Amino acid sequence: MEIRVASLSTRWRACRGPGYAPGLLALANRRFHIVLKAYAGHWGLITGASSGIGAEFARQLAARGMHCVLVARREDRLLSLARELTAAHGTRCEIMPADLSQPHAGRELLAEVARRGIEVELLVNNAGIGMVAAVEKADVERALKLIQINIASLTELTLVAAKQMVGRGHGGIINIGSLVSFQPVGYMGVYAASKAYVLHFSESLWAELRPRGVTVTTLCPGTTRTEFFDHSGVPGWAERNRGQDVQSVVRTGLAAFDAGRQYVVSGWVNYLVSLASRLATRATVAKWSMSLFRGHG
Ligand SMILES: NC(=O)c1ccc[n+]([C@@H]2O[C@H](COP(=O)([O-])OP(=O)(O)OC[C@H]3O[C@@H](n4cnc5c(N)ncnc54)[C@H](OP(=O)(O)O)[C@@H]3O)[C@@H](O)[C@H]2O)c1
Repeated sequence: MEIRVASLSTRWRACRGPGYAPGLLALANRRFHIVLKAYAGHWGLITGASSGIGAEFARQLAARGMHCVLVARREDRLLSLARELTAAHGTRCEIMPADLSQPHAGRELLAEVARRGIEVELLVNNAGIGMVAAVEKADVERALKLIQINIASLTELTLVAAKQMVGRGHGGIINIGSLVSFQPVGYMGVYAASKAYVLHFSESLWAELRPRGVTVTTLCPGTTRTEFFDHSGVPGWAERNRGQDVQSVVRTGLAAFDAGRQYVVSGWVNYLVSLASRLATRATVAKWSMSLFRGHG
């Protein structure tokens, strides 16, 4: 069964967070395009599946009947998630431990996927790391690692998988951007710039590939309660600040993908923040951003 969605539903609705109901809009719409061949019985590959947003993507995709290739470095966590998903949904899981900070890790990963006879219908490029630090304290090695994971590996995986999907005429990619994709952030400059890249690169592909049966959606979460900040130099930051849970973030991302949207910001307040950063001058936004991590860098 093919999944079809409205292509003419309003962009405004699709770009906001919770409450968006693609089903109703699809019913009201006469023109349709294909997003995925199907979830059930097909394979999704999720990077960064050992925790946080990636693990939740695996849970929600398995609940839709999708088999999952789980990728991250912590193999024990992938194994226990695979057991959980198979027990809960009867779907298949393949564990592929990989370090995406290594050059060409993405290409090698997809070669291994092909060797195992798996065709990836949905790629979720979720693995990512952050870094909060004042310039004088910045760990340059971590910055380069961040660029390799958040930009280079994501690009390699996206391009290699997209070529295969275009050849087949169907498939989808969800890339994880951020609320900071829309603005620079003081003390978090490398990370924010990496997520701006993710959004711009993915939006270009969305435009290029949608007439060829491949949908590329960027999910831009705001602060989300995961391990992310604990590993990024600001432990406990997510708990001290207003954040979303992974369940609602992933639901928003999948709804936007189902609707064939090019991007979605998770959450109303976050969506308004993303708009505000476009209305103010760039200097104002850059200076204001210093308040986010002042004292933590
Ligand atoms: N949490 C937020 O507030 C927030 C907001 C906006 C965007 N995001 C984005 O959301 C995505 C998921 O982050 P999260 O919040 O769920 O954080 P998380 O819980 O720290 O998850 C990060 C995932 O990336 C994987 N990863 C890290 N380094 C890796 C490497 N070298 N090779 C392979 N996998 C690696 C981790 O697995 P291993 O450590 O096992 O390798 C883990 O599964 C990231 O792209 C992040 O930038 C997060």
